[in-house]
Amino acid sequence: MKKRIAVLPGDGIGKEVTRGAVDVLKAIGERFGHQFYFSYGKIGGSAVDSFGTPLPDETVELCRESDAVLLGAVGGPKYDQLPVHLRPERGLLKIRKELGLYANLRPTLYYSSLAESSPLRKEIIEDVDMVMVRELTGGLYFGKPSERSTQNGQDVVVDTLFYQREEMTRVIKLAFDLARQRKGKVTSVDKANVLESSRMWREVAEEVSKAYPDVTLEHVLVDNAAMQLIKNPRKFDVVVTENMFGDILSDEASVLTGSLGMLPSASLSEKGPYLYEPIHGSAPDIEGQNVANPLASILSAAMMLRLSFGLEEEAKAVENAVNEVLNAGYRTKDISSFGKKQVSTTEMIEEVKATILDHETIL
Ligand code: NAD
Ligand code: IPM
Ligand code: MN
Repeated sequence: MKKRIAVLPGDGIGKEVTRGAVDVLKAIGERFGHQFYFSYGKIGGSAVDSFGTPLPDETVELCRESDAVLLGAVGGPKYDQLPVHLRPERGLLKIRKELGLYANLRPTLYYSSLAESSPLRKEIIEDVDMVMVRELTGGLYFGKPSERSTQNGQDVVVDTLFYQREEMTRVIKLAFDLARQRKGKVTSVDKANVLESSRMWREVAEEVSKAYPDVTLEHVLVDNAAMQLIKNPRKFDVVVTENMFGDILSDEASVLTGSLGMLPSASLSEKGPYLYEPIHGSAPDIEGQNVANPLASILSAAMMLRLSFGLEEEAKAVENAVNEVLNAGYRTKDISSFGKKQVSTTEMIEEVKATILDHETIL
């Protein structure tokens, strides 16, 4: 199989972890006889430095011409004081909008080998297997107006939460389709006791559910959901929610796995190309130290193999290699615990690569 992959490493540890995903995809290509062609583009602060904008047209073009997009992370303190249109985060929001990436899948999985890396007790996190489906191109992130002004001599500010009913319907449908392939349960998270947008969200979820009699729907208010995620995470299968709630709850859910550095994601559109990125950010506090966990990026590459290329066996090969490396005791700093072998980012990448290439495949 021949595929073109656009690689946008971005800023901070984005660059360090994306190398892991690329190396792993190369190893998969070698083992299974596929040709993956990688083309690099700039986004975020590094694009501001080179092009004076966080998302150059060249990058959008490159993504559109590719079969899939792999992204690292954007942002950093160097860029925090820039005017809003130049902020690195703007580049990320814009590429999501340009590519129509309306559904962001963020799986959270229990790794028995990492039970000790989570601050939560093993009996709470054991066998957790959920996917958060986050609406990605609407809500507070994109609503207009979003601005400051002065009213009667007072500084005032407004952000707008705007959704079209259809934007809710398509992402909720996707969540139901996903639940059908899994444990058959959708938890819709909202704040319907306060927000009008959430009341419409709940209504749409009820409507969509009529076409899925085999899928159970439950509604949970977002504050309660934040608590249940920590208290009783096994109750969740597919969680579907609007943009901002999904952003916050998925970082919280990463703690169940052991570290933010473990959670991959896939952003889906009507037609593709899809985009794959870890859920974490550019981590300025550990940038350049070769300690970042590359597994979220590597597991995002596995999602690419499965969802963009239909290469299930290859996706499993990556996930199995990650499991083997963890079972063998290799740990980056964030998931390290007593008696384990602490390794650097590059060493972890090497271990996963070597594990993939170690296994013989009869073609
Ligand atoms: P962050 O996700 O970058 O980091 C939060 C904490 O988790 C830090 O202590 C960091 O060291 C740790 N961490 C994150 N990824 C890790 C990994 N792979 N291995 C080990 N530890 C890891 O969030 P933040 O510090 O709040 O934000 C930093 C910058 O990143 C900001 O500019 C923010 O806007 C940006 N950001 C970008 C994305 C993205 O590009 N998708 C996501 C989140 C934040
Ligand atoms: C994420 C990030 C982004 C978001 C920021 C950097 C715009 O936190 O991908 O989760 O909020 O979507
Ligand atoms: Mn986030």
